[in-house]
Amino acid sequence: MIVIDPAQKSDREIYKLLIGSIIPRPIAFVTTLSPEGVLNAAPFSYFSIVSSNPPLLSIAVQRNKGSRKDTARNALEKGELVVHIVDEKLIAAVNQTAASLPPHESEVALAGLTPVVSDMISVPGVSEARIRMECELEQAIPLGGSAETPACDLLIARVVRFHFDEELYKEGHIDPIQLNPVSRMAGSYYSTLGKLFSIERPN
Ligand SMILES: Cc1cc2nc3c(=O)[nH]c(=O)nc-3n(C[C@H](O)[C@H](O)[C@H](O)COP(=O)(O)O)c2cc1C
Repeated sequence: MIVIDPAQKSDREIYKLLIGSIIPRPIAFVTTLSPEGVLNAAPFSYFSIVSSNPPLLSIAVQRNKGSRKDTARNALEKGELVVHIVDEKLIAAVNQTAASLPPHESEVALAGLTPVVSDMISVPGVSEARIRMECELEQAIPLGGSAETPACDLLIARVVRFHFDEELYKEGHIDPIQLNPVSRMAGSYYSTLGKLFSIERPN
């Protein structure tokens, strides 16, 4: 085995080890609203479920030399965000939204996506996504770096409304084949679903 002490490696080297090891990662496409009313959007693959009861999601947003990305800043200011699941039809547009635009420019407009009004929150989602979750910010936890300049913000988002395309919602279950999700690998690689199989859990 190769044994590595993260304390002896650069930030870039550790990043490469983590994003190459923890694969495939689902992608949250997150919309937020700036105080000026600009609809911001960006993809995040440091993304997971924290709890199903209550329905909580986690999204870790790295900072750039201590300063928050627009998603984290807007989510903190408004207390709301919309999380979309990225599928094969959406990935090209989503990739375009990862461009670092100034806060007054909308990545949603840049990518040609269509804003859709939310039921429970003031932040719109995008209609092209086939799974959309309206969320309230439950907590934002600054982590890493120093107390003055944390390295990232762990956003914990509570789902207050689900929207599912009828084609993939089957009597309370989500059809993975219909969803056709795209996951993030390392570098510029992505993946779709591979072989599906089931294993019975022991009692
Ligand atoms: C597929 C994909 C996944 C990404 N995952 C993350 C992530 O988990 N955390 C993060 O901080 N940045 C991530 N990024 C980079 C952000 O999307 C990028 O910094 C974006 O410009 C942030 O936008 P904002 O400033 O509007 O919030 C990812 C980019 C791509 C293309």
